[in-house]
Amino acid sequence: MLQHKKILLGITGSIAAYKAALLARELQRRGAVVRVVMTPSATEFITPLTLATLTGHKVYSDFTENKDSGEWTNHVELGLWGDAFLIAPATAQTLSAMVSGTCDNFLMAVHLSSRCPVIVAPAMDLDMFQHSATQANLQTLQNRGVPIIEPDSGALASGLEGKGRMAEPEAIADWMEDWLQKQAPLNGKKVVITAGPTHEPIDAVRFIGNRSSGKMGFALAQELQSAGADVHLIAGPVQLTAPSGVQVTHVETAVEMHKAAMVAFAQADIGIATAAVADYRAKTVVSNKLHRDEMPPAVELEENPDILADWGKHKKSGQFLVGFALETDQGEDSAKLKLKRKNLDFIVLNSTMDQGAGFGTDTNKISIFEKNGKSHIFELKSKAAVAQDITKLIMTLLPQ
Ligand code: C5P
Repeated sequence: MLQHKKILLGITGSIAAYKAALLARELQRRGAVVRVVMTPSATEFITPLTLATLTGHKVYSDFTENKDSGEWTNHVELGLWGDAFLIAPATAQTLSAMVSGTCDNFLMAVHLSSRCPVIVAPAMDLDMFQHSATQANLQTLQNRGVPIIEPDSGALASGLEGKGRMAEPEAIADWMEDWLQKQAPLNGKKVVITAGPTHEPIDAVRFIGNRSSGKMGFALAQELQSAGADVHLIAGPVQLTAPSGVQVTHVETAVEMHKAAMVAFAQADIGIATAAVADYRAKTVVSNKLHRDEMPPAVELEENPDILADWGKHKKSGQFLVGFALETDQGEDSAKLKLKRKNLDFIVLNSTMDQGAGFGTDTNKISIFEKNGKSHIFELKSKAAVAQDITKLIMTLLPQ
């Protein structure tokens, strides 16, 4: 969930500030981009140089970059940059300043400028934490929608024992991932995606197949997972690695893909068929390798199941279905027929007439036709960007 997330890390003046270096590292290890703002007192516990080196970004703790030239640091720009503003450690002083809206240092100015969610991980001595003023401040922040990452109990820097230690960096990173998952627009939604080609054997070594790479289906898996969905890919023979956390079922033939897809769709909220399923298979498959002189003059074929059409037949109320149509002409009429015949919510058309679209490429140019007659035409884009467009439309149209 932290992949590509922009986390603004606010560090305030507590001895727990030393753990902020590990926290920045851990967030980055999980894929986040981290930028740091510090209060002046935090810089006495850990140097901006440490954080700047670890994050690869300048660290901000002052309103001015260069007092002589009058260059100033744009707290508004930083406040708008993050997907989340995590203040860890958050001292009793900072919590109080957040409640009153005090703006007496750069970090507090960023706090007032930020539009993203602000999260605090308090750190202080046990009596300071238990003090009714601190507890009232935490309650006020919570009422305003600021989540609090509870401090741990244990040995404190003062020598006392009790609750007040900032949560450990790994635990904070876990908390952030859980929280992001819950915030994600497709949290709790199950998606099943068919991807790649199918291979239909003729003998032990030969098969009927096609040039599908599976890239579009895998890009969609990545994008839908980032939007919080629980994604199950059913992939034919492809040379791709699934994004971590995505469940993958590897299959070879259309019949195998059909079987796995029907089981998965029964539990799914969304079904997306990107696979280029072979429409026919060899009627008889020879178990050994046919020698040249044994080759039949023709291979007798029989029809494969149409997976998407079967999903359409079994579609229950609330389930959402997306199909793809790859056409060698402009293909709009044919795509619209498939949309109807297969009982889809929308169909994505790509045409081999468009350069950079279709099988194998890293780009695609699509048009989308909705069942209610609306259409959307997109420019040539990377398959990752196409996946974003498709995901956005699914989120808009998905029944609540
Ligand atoms: O009919 P056509 O093969 O062009 O339909 C394309 C759509 O139907 C795609 O979404 C494709 O994944 C799906 N399909 C399928 N099973 C088949 C054939 C196509 O799921 N046997």
